[in-house]
Amino acid sequence: MFYHLWSFFVFFVAISIVCGCNEHKVIDAIFRNYNKAVRPVLQQNTTLHVQYELKIYNIISVDEPDEFVTFLLWTVRRWKDQYLTWNPNDFDGCTTLKVTSDLIWSPDIYFLNT
Ligand SMILES: *[C@@H]1O[C@H](CO)[C@@H](O)[C@H](O)[C@H]1NC(C)=O
Repeated sequence: MFYHLWSFFVFFVAISIVCGCNEHKVIDAIFRNYNKAVRPVLQQNTTLHVQYELKIYNIISVDEPDEFVTFLLWTVRRWKDQYLTWNPNDFDGCTTLKVTSDLIWSPDIYFLNT
């Protein structure tokens, strides 16, 4: 019984080391010189393509006499930030990172209530 617990412990530690993606190291490295006020292209003459999607999530109400429809919309914006890249081999195999949107550049596109 003790042997099984011990081997499980060794296995768990080995898995932790192999999968030891250190997000802190990646964030420190890629945000060291990051400026979210700057358009995220390495050469300023590069066009940055932003994909903007509007998805109807729900129809709240339809007012036929006044021809008025109220939707609940979901917006999705996609672009490639050329500064937010890293080599996974340099960071223990980290391939993805989750950060809050206030830390990164985002396109100045807004959908006004019409
Ligand atoms: C963009 O700028 C770089 C450096 O200023 C220049 O070498 C390159 O030719 C430019 N590319 C285009 C498409 O103008």
